[in-house]
Amino acid sequence: MYVCICHALNDKKVKAALDQGATTPASVFRHHNCQVQCGKCVPTMRSMASEHRATFAQQTAAAAAVAAMPAAAPCCGSALPEPANAEAVPAYAIAAE
Ligand code: FES
Repeated sequence: MYVCICHALNDKKVKAALDQGATTPASVFRHHNCQVQCGKCVPTMRSMASEHRATFAQQTAAAAAVAAMPAAAPCCGSALPEPANAEAVPAYAIAAE
């Protein structure tokens, strides 16, 4: 979907600019080396930027919550589980060790 007709900026180009640090319509234009002309796209870009910030804040909060979780205690003592392919080792390989 085209967001800015004047500069042929579609939603992917706007999102790419937002992903790389643009936070306002002006910074989206700077990212793509252009300037606002008619301005009809500015409200859409502004709402895309605020939506992007909200999503980023949610992801940051979720990552912080995961980082703050205590480390899981081993459930079965300190023994490590056998690897899934432990039985696939041929007997001659074990005998060679
Ligand atoms: S539509 Fe974006 S400046 Fe005109």
